[in-house]
Formats: sequence, C-alpha cells, structure tokens
Amino acid sequence: MARKLKVGVIGLGMMGTTHLDIYAQMSEVEVVAIADTNPDLLDGSLQAKGNIEGQAAGSVKALNVKKYSDGMGLVSDPKVELVDICVGTHLHFSFVEAALIQEKHVLIEKPLARSAEQARRIVELAKCSTKVVMSAMCLRYWPAWLWLKKAIDDNRFGACLSLNCRRHTSHPPGDFYSNSEQCGGALLDLHIHDTDFINFCFGMPQAVFSQGHLGPSGGIDYVSTQYIYNQAQRAIVHAEGTWDLQEGYGFSMSYTANFENATLNYVLADEETLMLFVAGDEPKNVELPDGMGYEFEIRECVDTILENRSTDMNLLNQAADSLVIIEAEQASIKYCSVVPIKERLD
Ligand SMILES: NC(=O)c1ccc[n+]([C@@H]2O[C@H](COP(=O)([O-])OP(=O)(O)OC[C@H]3O[C@@H](n4cnc5c(N)ncnc54)[C@H](O)[C@@H]3O)[C@@H](O)[C@H]2O)c1
Repeated sequence: MARKLKVGVIGLGMMGTTHLDIYAQMSEVEVVAIADTNPDLLDGSLQAKGNIEGQAAGSVKALNVKKYSDGMGLVSDPKVELVDICVGTHLHFSFVEAALIQEKHVLIEKPLARSAEQARRIVELAKCSTKVVMSAMCLRYWPAWLWLKKAIDDNRFGACLSLNCRRHTSHPPGDFYSNSEQCGGALLDLHIHDTDFINFCFGMPQAVFSQGHLGPSGGIDYVSTQYIYNQAQRAIVHAEGTWDLQEGYGFSMSYTANFENATLNYVLADEETLMLFVAGDEPKNVELPDGMGYEFEIRECVDTILENRSTDMNLLNQAADSLVIIEAEQASIKYCSVVPIKERLD
C-alpha cells in the first residue's frame, strides 16, 4: 500500500475545517491529530461557518484521532509529519517556529505572518530546514486566477494593459476578526489575496498609493490601492478590498483584466464566472476546472512532501514580500502619499 502522509491540523475554525474536508477526500493523507483551544470545536458540538460555499465543510465528529486542547501539544506529536497551521495570523510565527524545531513539514494559512518582520524570520527558518514550508496563498491555485496568470505570462492576448481586483464582504464574525492586532484588519486579512496575486503576476511594484479607513476590527477595513510599476511593465494595476459592508451583503470577489486584444471579466457570484470578450467574437464563457484554490494548494503541499521535493523558496519569498507591500500600503494610507518599495526578499 502506498504511504500516507500523516497530518495534524491546528485551529478548527473556518479554515481548519475547510482543510479537513479536503484531506478527507485525499487517499494519500491520514489526519492523525487535531487541536483547538475551544473544546466545543474539538469535540464537534460546535461547527465553524464559512463565508463562501464549500468552506468549513469538514467535520471533526467522525474523526477518531488524537485531540489536543492546545496546538503546541500537536506540534510535538511524533506521529504528525505535516503540521497544518490554521490558527489566527498573530499565532502563525510561533507555531511555524515550534513545528520546524520538531522537524515537521508546515503548511501555513495566509497571510504568512502578522508582520513582514515575522515573515522574513520564517523565510530564514525555512532556509535552514530540510522540511517543506509552504504558504497557503490560495489565489495562486484558484482556477480563474491561474487562467489569468497564464494569459498574462504567455501574451496570448497581447500585453496586459490594466488589472482591477475587487474583494468585498460584510465584517466576518468571531473574536479574531474583531481584533486588528490579531487579524491586521481587512488590509492584511482580506486584501492580501489581491496584493499577493498582483505580486505573483507582475512582481514587486516600485511604489504604492493607497487610501483607506478604519472599521469594525479597529484596523484598516477598507483599502483602495494603486500599484505603481515602471514603464517597462505597462499594466495599470488597482485593487480594492473591504469587509466594512452592511451585514447581509455576503462575499464577492471579482477582477477585470484588459489586454491589447481581449478583456477578461471574473465574478464569483455569476453563473458563468469567467467571461472572455474579443472584438468581433461573441462573448465566451471560459471553462475552468471544478474546485477551489484550497484544494489545489493542499494537493501541491502534499505532493511536494510525498515526492521529496524541497520548499518552493520563490513562493515563500513572494508570500513574505507581499507583507512588505501590505505594510507600504498601510504607510501610504497613514501619510496620504506615494510610498516607494525598496525591500525585496531573495
Ligand atoms: N485562505 C483563505 O481564503 C482564508 C480565509 C479565511 C481565513 N484565512 C486565514 O486562516 C487563519 C484562520 O482563520 P479562521 O477564519 O479559520 O479563524 P477562526 O478564528 O475561525 O479559527 C481559528 C481557530 O484557532 C483556534 N486556536 C486559537 N489559538 C489556538 C491554539 N493555541 N491552539 C489551537 N487552536 C487555537 C481558535 O479557537 C479558533 O477555533 C487566519 O490566518 C486567516 O487569515 C484564510
């Protein structure tokens, strides 16, 4: 029988239960341990909720595995090979550090850490480790976003002239999302998806100009950013993110990318999510693989470990760089000025 990767999941909230659902469908994985400080989540009497369909679908009720009332116990469990870190962002660094000391592989929910400084330290720890360290920046694996990335890279529609990304929701429930010291506000928690995807497609911008305001987390919960690239990189790139919308709005994410010879428009809520417009042709629905980015990202992590591949340092460096951009956006909002970005992790 093929070997199964033994996984422990820390944090059984929205993302931990999303990951559990995916592991339950993977024959090459065995979940051997779970951890949460909330006993009701640990015994399954309480179930976390997601903000889009398909999230938080995993249940711990049927799991006959070791249960820890704190993630640090799971980290030292000798059976666990991969520690999947799904706790709040303010705790990511300490769990990554502890897991690497115990010589475990780690998958870290996004954002990589609470600050660029912590992210940099995770990169340094990963360089000194033989274990796989992966940041779960799920848009990089989300079919409609991957399709866009490929279209930009292979120039099939000519140069990308502009990209506009939008991510809108009402304020998510829970203590974590109400504490900007922990979650970093919508700027870090929500908008980093688009910042990181823009970094993935176009590299680090030369500068950013952002405007934003405080919201229910106590941090920046609305942000609108212009990512400024030099003239060689022709695209004009903008993203807007907020979780300051009225209760009941739900969640939406979308992008519009305009190329020399085509326009692409993605809207999560539409039946035909990704539409391609080319002058002279009928608008066309782009067929995409089923599934959300979480599934493809977790498969990539598991395959990397089972195939004895090493950490993708490009991905890790870029995930850390995205925190540098986020902090520049924060400074831009504070000083109402264009903020140059000099730093880059290699
Ligand atoms: N990839 C995505 O699209 C996406 C979406 C939402 C959240 N996230 C990220 O996932 C992470 C978790 O978010 P969430 O919405 O699941 O949060 P959550 O608050 O729903 O869940 C976190 C869980 O961790 C538990 N916990 C706290 N301290 C612990 C400890 N010491 N040991 C064990 N368990 C502990 C909490 O009790 C809670 O149940 C955050 O970093 C967030 O930014 C990613």
